[in-house]
Amino acid sequence: MAITPPSERIWWKEPIHKVEIVWIIVAFLWGLVMFFTMIWWHGFGQQNLSNEAYRIQPFQFAEKVDKMIAAHTVRQEGAFPVVRPPPGSDVYLMGRVYMWWPMLELEKGQSYRLHLSSIDLQHGFSLQPLNINLQVHPGYEMVINLTPTTTGEFGIVCNEYCGLGHHTMTGRIYVVDRN
Ligand code: CUA
Repeated sequence: MAITPPSERIWWKEPIHKVEIVWIIVAFLWGLVMFFTMIWWHGFGQQNLSNEAYRIQPFQFAEKVDKMIAAHTVRQEGAFPVVRPPPGSDVYLMGRVYMWWPMLELEKGQSYRLHLSSIDLQHGFSLQPLNINLQVHPGYEMVINLTPTTTGEFGIVCNEYCGLGHHTMTGRIYVVDRN
């Protein structure tokens, strides 16, 4: 029983007020606009989304990462190898508890195919200070076409809670200008 029952008991047979009809139509049309914008934006919004993904066993991805590290490491920063892959090449970055492995050094104006995956849990790749956020799953390899436009030092944090060390999970990408 309602606290204030409607005075007309058969209220659902009342005609709908004009203002209400107008609002229903406005809300419906706006919903359609947003729905189609979503589809349109996916193609024309210049998002850096990944449309390329593959299934992969975590150990297979780790092998690709190791191979790249062995071939292209240019220096060491603490525990991290810093890898400078050749422009245009396939670059591998692995999320794991609790780091982004390895550190990368890319060239401004050159394009790379960045492969992202995780070896253990679900992580979130978040490139700072840019607004690039991607989910990284074990068992899936995502490919992003990347062309750095700004030189500098870019941090990577994890923005998907992955355990006690989640807040310490960081990585780094250097972008240098070699022209
Ligand atoms: Cu990895 Cu949070």
